[in-house]
Amino acid sequence: MLIKFEKPIYKIMELLEATPENIKKAAGLLKKGKLVAFPTETVYGLGANGLNPLAVTKIFEAKNRPSFNPLILHIAGKSDLTKLTSTTDEIIEKLTGKFWPGPLTLVLPKKNIVPDIVTAGNPTVAVRMPGHPVALKLIELSGTPIAAPSANLFGQLSPTTAGHVVKQLGNKVDLILDGGKCKVGVESTIIGFVDGEIVLLRPGGIPVEEIEKITGKIKKFSPEDTDSNPLSPGRLPFHYSPAIPIRFFDEKIEKEITGKKVGALLFKKSHTGTNFNKVIYLSENGDLHEAAANLFYALHELETADLDLIYVEPVPEKGLGIAIMDRLKKAVKKYT
Ligand code: TXA
Ligand code: MG
Repeated sequence: MLIKFEKPIYKIMELLEATPENIKKAAGLLKKGKLVAFPTETVYGLGANGLNPLAVTKIFEAKNRPSFNPLILHIAGKSDLTKLTSTTDEIIEKLTGKFWPGPLTLVLPKKNIVPDIVTAGNPTVAVRMPGHPVALKLIELSGTPIAAPSANLFGQLSPTTAGHVVKQLGNKVDLILDGGKCKVGVESTIIGFVDGEIVLLRPGGIPVEEIEKITGKIKKFSPEDTDSNPLSPGRLPFHYSPAIPIRFFDEKIEKEITGKKVGALLFKKSHTGTNFNKVIYLSENGDLHEAAANLFYALHELETADLDLIYVEPVPEKGLGIAIMDRLKKAVKKYT
């Protein structure tokens, strides 16, 4: 499959199925300093050669991302971690042994080889080995760590299909590799170390309870702490927001929806009563893994369904529900 979009101001973007041949082509583009969007198990990433500062600049430009927001470097083998950081703590071995490849990002002291633009001047670098065969092959063939944020415009919904990437960044990337829908559906869990203590910087695809089985209790920064915590990702008040207003269910609902086209994002099949114009269940059986995998997909659907407002039902804040609620609270914050 080959679709070409011609946009005079930007580039000619290609959307290609992630076949071995096309992954090779994508790796060639990365080597030349170009931008490639690719699937990971969490969300699609917008990748550039992570050791080439000029290539990395293009990521910030394409996303309209503030340059103080550092990027994750993606590697294809656990041993590549030592090229980027000097830390060899036993706990790191245990965490990577258990969770890599997979949705865990570690923030560690950086080596000089890591450009300052990647870390936004921080002395630390965020690293992860993704659990997706296309991502791993792409990194391996490009022969360099790939710097990649989620492939969305800054502050907007994260992409879990190639179509979502086309919607927001279609004319700003050189190539999009289509590897189908992302299985995890929320971004990686980010762990850092502050004064020798392990801290959770972002809840994500690996439930923090799973990590605590190895590390013991982890200190968590809630979104409200982010002002006083310079290390915490997503320091801005809102993030992950659809283009139309979104709110949690509350008692005002009946009054507010009169005369409006309203969509509902429900956790499981239980709600009755109110008539909505469109209803999406994150998981009919109330499974949090399924709910996470469907979260951004459902929000993209509702965003483009010609609605005035989205009502969302909170999910239980345990396991992957913690990451889901983190994303939803930030999405809602834009409209409160
Ligand atoms: O699952 C994921 O992590 C996806 C896929 C593409 O790998 N990537 C992703 O990247 O979510 P991004 O840029 O959307 O979110 C990464 C977060 C940012 O909020 C950033 O602030 C934080 O990681 N981060 C990166 N480097 C950091 C560092 N040195 N210290 C603290 N936070 C860091
Ligand atoms: Mg992001």
